[in-house]
Amino acid sequence: MAVQVVLGTQWGDEGKGKIVDYLSKNADYVVRFQGGNNAGHTIKIKNDVYKLHIIPSGVISGKIGVIGNGCVIDPEILSDEIKQLKQKKIHPNLLISNRAHIIMPYHKLLDGAEEKYLAQGKIGTTKRGIGPCYSDKIARNGIRAGDLLSKEKLIKKLERILPIKQQLLKIYGIDHVLDKNMIANTYHAYGKKFKDFITDTHDLLQDAIIDGKNILFEGAQGAMLDVDYGTYPYATSSHVIAGGAAIGAGVPPKVLSDLVGIVKAYTTRVGEGPMPTELHDTVGQYLQKNGHEFGTTTSRPRRCGWLDLVVVRHACRLSGISKIALTKLDVLDGIDTVKICVGYEMKNKMIDIFPFDSDDVALCKPIYKEFKGWDKTTKAASFTDLPQQAQEYILFIQEYLKTPIWLVSFGPERNQTFMV
Ligand code: GDP
Ligand code: IMO
Ligand code: MG
Repeated sequence: MAVQVVLGTQWGDEGKGKIVDYLSKNADYVVRFQGGNNAGHTIKIKNDVYKLHIIPSGVISGKIGVIGNGCVIDPEILSDEIKQLKQKKIHPNLLISNRAHIIMPYHKLLDGAEEKYLAQGKIGTTKRGIGPCYSDKIARNGIRAGDLLSKEKLIKKLERILPIKQQLLKIYGIDHVLDKNMIANTYHAYGKKFKDFITDTHDLLQDAIIDGKNILFEGAQGAMLDVDYGTYPYATSSHVIAGGAAIGAGVPPKVLSDLVGIVKAYTTRVGEGPMPTELHDTVGQYLQKNGHEFGTTTSRPRRCGWLDLVVVRHACRLSGISKIALTKLDVLDGIDTVKICVGYEMKNKMIDIFPFDSDDVALCKPIYKEFKGWDKTTKAASFTDLPQQAQEYILFIQEYLKTPIWLVSFGPERNQTFMV
């Protein structure tokens, strides 16, 4: 393995958690490098279901989980997540970058307030404070994990930041007093709680690379939510694509060559924004029901539609995806005719490049290639065990993307997986 990166290639929820858990058996470290608890990664092991939001999925198999500098951390959620894991007899072995930014109470209040203010124009965020926290990072008004260790430093930073945030809350009509001492006490207490985890994780990972250790990077969200290359402004606030892994963990880009793109066999999206292959018919309902497509973080129903290869190719090219893990193939079982989007018609033109402007994306009409459906994939142990039609579906994806399908997942469990 050495260094392997797992990335979502659609609008998130591709099954990254399941695949990271599957691949982490060979890893020494499993590293989150962007996003925060907007993510919801599900791992199902027999009767136990783990839903992780900020803790890397590799801790389930006992690996060291690293929360890199590119992440944003809500310490309250992190504490809860650790507690819940311990209740299930998992004692996560964690390291937190001292440079990771902290989601503060005012970030969460402002996320909700901005969304309310935008009304019809809202993004449909997870309201976890992600956008406001990343905004403060870039504006150089952030509080970092390392800052939680010193109460004096924390107070000094809050004295600078809180008056601005208090004004903003007022503008949004939120009647909430930001009490400096209370916030400093609460967040310093988190600092004390996590002090043994907070360190220069980039340095440690650099050493691990030199020592030939196995490092698995766990992407959150999907390329179409990337702040630069996704359906802006209907995107998240971090760099989701491969380049984000180098910056978000502090490792040299040249070590990132084994890039696994997670492709769900159809498309889903949560929140607002265009989605060309969205289905509003009984097939869309079938995918939602059969795929249990409800958000892991917010429980919102996910919008469902056919696989969109224009989207996936956009993602593969941006990250230089070397191989694909195809997930949730079983959800297509029992559909008579299965479709794949191979291009768009936009303003009377045929295109196969993802448009820059979300208003244009909303005008895109998918061009489909149809495939005869199949009955059941659930008995498969290898590619040749799959129904002939499912094999054809997979081979077409591989050919279109010019990228090998390396792994197929046909159920949520570890053993519902095979390497091609
Ligand atoms: P992530 O955010 O990419 O980690 O994905 P989520 O965990 O939010 O959503 C994926 C859902 O699909 C979870 O409930 C998984 O347990 C489930 N899942 C993963 N792979 C498969 C699969 O191949 N088939 C089926 N039926 N479910 C799967
Ligand atoms: P995982 O890692 C699906 C979406 C939100 C919203 C937009 C911005 O589980 O795949 P944010 O709270 O990040 O500012 O919201 O991004 N979103 C996700 N959608 N899966 C996710 O993560 C997501 N994380 C954020 O629904 O549309
Ligand atoms: Mg998810």
